[in-house]
Amino acid sequence: MTRELIDSAAIGTHYDERSPIGDELRNGQLHMWYWYDNEDDAPLADAVHRISRKVAETLGLRPGERVLDAGCGPGETAVFLARNYGVKVTGITVSSFEIDKANERAVANGVTDRVTFEYGDYTGLDYPDGSFDAVLALESLQNAPDLERVLSELFRVLRPGGRISFSDFSLESEAEPARVKRFMNTLKLRELPTLTQWIEHAQRAGFEVEEYTQCGPRVFGKKSKYIKAAMDHRDSIAAKFGEEALAEFSRRHLGFFAPRKDQIGYVIVSARKPGR
Ligand SMILES: C[S@@+](CC[C@H](N)C(=O)[O-])C[C@H]1O[C@@H](n2cnc3c(N)ncnc32)[C@H](O)[C@@H]1O
Repeated sequence: MTRELIDSAAIGTHYDERSPIGDELRNGQLHMWYWYDNEDDAPLADAVHRISRKVAETLGLRPGERVLDAGCGPGETAVFLARNYGVKVTGITVSSFEIDKANERAVANGVTDRVTFEYGDYTGLDYPDGSFDAVLALESLQNAPDLERVLSELFRVLRPGGRISFSDFSLESEAEPARVKRFMNTLKLRELPTLTQWIEHAQRAGFEVEEYTQCGPRVFGKKSKYIKAAMDHRDSIAAKFGEEALAEFSRRHLGFFAPRKDQIGYVIVSARKPGR
């Protein structure tokens, strides 16, 4: 078995274990939140949905386009893209829990004619060159064993002129490296690039970077707001998954929130494959 297969299987297990509570808590979106300030009273699911909307907006989608959601989680973002932009979405993930949950979500939302979920490893995809008009990678590149290789593979499956947008964490301060290491281990991050390094990775894969945003202060910087919002769901999570699962979930948050709030940024990068 190659290193990539072992790695992807381990990542799949990681999400099989973590996604059920995340799916419940954040309504099928396993990514970060976005709050404007501490007075912003958007509920957690809405704050999380803002990230899907922000990243999707940068893709400039047109009805009928073929979109690859690379690392689709439990499917809420793919369903949102299909319903709001009239696109056809293929969602891939290495977690079997997520595939089942995403398929349930597609059925419940009546979009099975436009949305397909399947097992797929972005380190080596089965799709022919130029299969997609756009690729979305919402907090999924963070688990890539080799970022440039994965970005090159996503470049390959895009048609010339096709677009990619991804969002992910960035390193903002190298002070207190033990805190950052804990964060990376908890999330199974192979690398934690700075915004500049993210852009360079995309460029080395062949992309022309067209837009980038650093919104870390409104994302990781609002971690206290998230903790408070998550605690409001404590009883329903315990009722559904049990006290032990809730305790384990809380323990994992200690690693996730180990860095100081200005140590971890959040970037959205949008780029194009040259040509038309
Ligand atoms: C933090 S979750 C984000 C999920 C989803 N994009 C969202 O925002 O809700 C990371 C996702 O990346 C996926 N992923 C990680 N490694 C992958 C790989 N090698 N190939 C495909 N997907 C992968 C995981 O299965 C998971 O769905």
